[in-house]
Amino acid sequence: MAKHAELIARLPKAELHLHIEGSFEPEMMLALAERNRIDIPFKTLEDAKAAYAFSNLQEFLDLYYQGMNVLRTEQDFHDLTWAYLTRAEADNVRHVEMFYDPQAHTERGVAFGTVTDGILSALERGEKELGITSKLIMSFLRHLSEEDGFALLEDSKPWHEKFVGVGLDSSEVGHPPLKFERLFAECRKRGFKLCMHAGEEGPPEYVREALLDIGVDRIDHGNRSMEDPALIEILRDTQTPLTNCPLSNLSLCVIDDLRKSPVKKQLDEGLLVTVNSDDPAYFGGYIGKNYEEISVALDLGSDDLIQLARNSFTGSFLSESEKAAHLAEIDSALQHLRM
Ligand code: ADE
Ligand code: ZN
Repeated sequence: MAKHAELIARLPKAELHLHIEGSFEPEMMLALAERNRIDIPFKTLEDAKAAYAFSNLQEFLDLYYQGMNVLRTEQDFHDLTWAYLTRAEADNVRHVEMFYDPQAHTERGVAFGTVTDGILSALERGEKELGITSKLIMSFLRHLSEEDGFALLEDSKPWHEKFVGVGLDSSEVGHPPLKFERLFAECRKRGFKLCMHAGEEGPPEYVREALLDIGVDRIDHGNRSMEDPALIEILRDTQTPLTNCPLSNLSLCVIDDLRKSPVKKQLDEGLLVTVNSDDPAYFGGYIGKNYEEISVALDLGSDDLIQLARNSFTGSFLSESEKAAHLAEIDSALQHLRM
């Protein structure tokens, strides 16, 4: 059992960086392929798992978009989301802010409402049956154009009150934040929180653009910020949340060893870093495993782990009173552990 495993299991957590399509386990992919009578390149679990070896972000994305081709019906999206929530519950996740990629579905003919309603009905069920609260973040694909993004923003209008914010993901290098400057300004005007993947593979300048030119509320990944001391200072001063994903970083060769994860340095620098799973079905573990592995690799103390759990709520889009209630739950969980 990993050091601090009990503490990690007992700590209430929020997950702030999770792509629901990245929680599509190969078992479910094979089952839905059969249910929807779709041919897929994998015939067995072993075939699928053997393909999950990536040397960069693009290799992963190619498989990620191929995998989701099996998702067709509202029930598929409901089942996918429900499966994630039951796993999150096992890791004591109390709140999730979930990304999804509508353009990856509408482009292949699955209607926006089919995808969104399937996810939303599972999120509502998660709150009722598991007590896990949630917020949904609509993500734009950055390899597509800003015009495509505006089209999605218009098409999604009837659902806007269901989203807390918007995100930007997919192939980073060559698609800087400023490519989407007008789109994100419009999203801000409409009241959405703004998130962008930045500094995963892209340079620190992309994080600067996201933060200083776009004015994002949260940076997803942000690893390469650590190459720029002045940027570290800005991140500390603004307490902009960073959603780090250790096992993702390792799988996508952002780092070649978990011991090179920036999480401990970011904690020590006073940054608002959080630990998340990103695409857990592809990267070998859900949020609990991310906490456990990073704890061992970086020799984290219990104070570090408690800080990470606290940061997950502080960095969320919950209200101040909701955040305070979750932080009090952490205190109470710790009291029970010490008894
Ligand atoms: N979409 C799903 N996972 C992603 C990641 N780690 N980076 C960029 N886009 C993604
Ligand atoms: Zn991501």
